[in-house]
Amino acid sequence: LPLLFERAPALRDRIAWLRLADGTPTPIERLARLGERLGIERLFVKRDDRTSAVYGGNKVRKLEWILAEARRRGRRRVVTVGAWGSHHALATAIFARAVGLDATLVLTPQPLTPHVRANLLADLGAGARVVAVRSLATAPLATARALLGRPRAFFVAPGGSDARGTLGYVECALEIAEAVRAGAAPAPDFVYVAAGTCGTAAGLALGLGLAAREVPALAACEVVGVRVVPRALASARRVGSLARKAARLLERAGGPGGIAPARVTVLGEHLGAGYGHATEEGRAVAATARAAEGLALETTYTAKALAGLAAFAAAPARRGRTHLFVHTLNAADLGALAAKADAAALPAFLRARLEALTASG
Ligand SMILES: Cc1ncc(COP(=O)(O)O)c(C=O)c1O
Repeated sequence: LPLLFERAPALRDRIAWLRLADGTPTPIERLARLGERLGIERLFVKRDDRTSAVYGGNKVRKLEWILAEARRRGRRRVVTVGAWGSHHALATAIFARAVGLDATLVLTPQPLTPHVRANLLADLGAGARVVAVRSLATAPLATARALLGRPRAFFVAPGGSDARGTLGYVECALEIAEAVRAGAAPAPDFVYVAAGTCGTAAGLALGLGLAAREVPALAACEVVGVRVVPRALASARRVGSLARKAARLLERAGGPGGIAPARVTVLGEHLGAGYGHATEEGRAVAATARAAEGLALETTYTAKALAGLAAFAAAPARRGRTHLFVHTLNAADLGALAAKADAAALPAFLRARLEALTASG
């Protein structure tokens, strides 16, 4: 059962949840070699890349709450939106199918990389219906159309970042608190995560605020979101607003009330040319993480998040503090899913782009 239900048993009958992750609670490990290379003495990682052996990363935690609600409402179909390589869209495809729901994914353009292509093919391999639109501007209409069909669909918020999805990362924060309480990990001073749709950062902030009631060492812990999308989409304000929505959901369902979320800082200087555009500093720190610890990062989220950590943690005032990187990228192999994909299901313009990518090696 979720730690949230253990803490507040009343929630069990009032908020739907189903288990999808088979790797939680995820371990917290010390990154001594990477820390040494980055000049950060106390660097740790929460291995959310291993939340699931089917498809790990941050999305499965959110979907445990979202898909449970879709099922509770008797829906047989879900619709969601993301970019071509969206981890959220792919996780929705995989876990919706696992619980007997059909998934329609409305996908928008982004810089095409081998990682993006692999995710797109895995979407198809997972049996999702992919509606690939040519521009962001046409996504709302395509989404509205997808929602209109029969049977009635359940809309899953982009990134899984609504009040329910945010509970997934409240749970992750409670896991961190359990590890601290058990002496298995030190209390972090800073918890770092990529900030896209902001549900991950919001859940961590709310959960750390809740956990601090029982684990005082967490009272001063700060969530550092590294923005990977334009400022209009991700900010400390947006994180705070989502955290409050999730707090209201908990309170109305008879859970804990009056939680003060942990402090949140959002770093804006690691985005580079835009969402999905790799940065040099991201590439460099990802290469260092691979060489030092065998950690695999991608360029859109996790490399930028680690680049943000490296810069923020290196400030003299933060030396000697404890820094925790939440590794939100799936580590499970998607080869089998991608092999099942029939690219003919994609529109010709996108197939041509994929072929051009293959031809360019
Ligand atoms: C690998 C990865 N890390 C981090 C994030 C950011 O999470 P959020 O959208 O909750 O801000 C995402 C979101 O798509 C992601 O795919």
